[in-house]
Amino acid sequence: MIKENNIGIRIYENNLEGSQKFAQIFVDNINLVLKKKKKCVISIPTGNSPINFYQSLINLYKEKKISFKNVIFFNLDEFFPISKHHRESYYYYLQTKLFNHIDLPRNNINLLEGDIKEKSLKKYCESFEKNIKKLGGLDIQILGIGRNGHIGFNEPGSNINSITRKVRISNDSLNIISKDFSNKTRIPKEALTLGINTILSAKKIYLLAWGLEKASIIKNTLKGKVNSDIPSTYLQNHNNVSFILDKDAASKILISD
Ligand code: GLP
Repeated sequence: MIKENNIGIRIYENNLEGSQKFAQIFVDNINLVLKKKKKCVISIPTGNSPINFYQSLINLYKEKKISFKNVIFFNLDEFFPISKHHRESYYYYLQTKLFNHIDLPRNNINLLEGDIKEKSLKKYCESFEKNIKKLGGLDIQILGIGRNGHIGFNEPGSNINSITRKVRISNDSLNIISKDFSNKTRIPKEALTLGINTILSAKKIYLLAWGLEKASIIKNTLKGKVNSDIPSTYLQNHNNVSFILDKDAASKILISD
């Protein structure tokens, strides 16, 4: 593992190899936490980056390397407004790509719901935040990264002290997201997301990034000055972050300049 600005970096041949290796690291990490205390509290992302990782995790579960009975999951973000049953909702994604395939008790799933009433939103976000705290905080946070440096839906301009809230999705992100929506007129323009402060309060943070399209933002995140224009640079302020990359995503940090 190499280090850059306080951040550990693991580089793998490709997405598949990195996802498989990371699934093992993650399982070891959960088992270590479970040895010390009764439960492990985790927040997980959606998007394309973790798809192979979730599949590898299901495989490790089938091989009996891990049980999720004492693991409590929160999600990182969700579109707003969106129905739980919408195929592009992060709720639907996590149920179908992970939760339906492991021994996770329903009560251990805490997902931001995109169909909450606008007038209850503030209280809802506050209670989501409180629920994490009540459990002793996040043991592990897994992140993807947007090409503009967003983590969760903390878009450029996000404050370091921000907590769970409703945000506007940037035009840059909307352009990328729109490729996944079949009905382009109904793409949500807003989202619910854990805040930067919530993310940085996790004891351990992993960020996954694959492919050449992430190479520039990975370089800027690791080598740039900490600033709100690139929210991912806030990760330099945390003392236990690991980036899990493939060679392509790491290609711009391997060249010295
Ligand atoms: C999305 C989500 C993030 C995700 C990121 C990267 O818009 N808001 O939670 O991590 O962008 O997505 P992907 O992994 O598909 O590149």
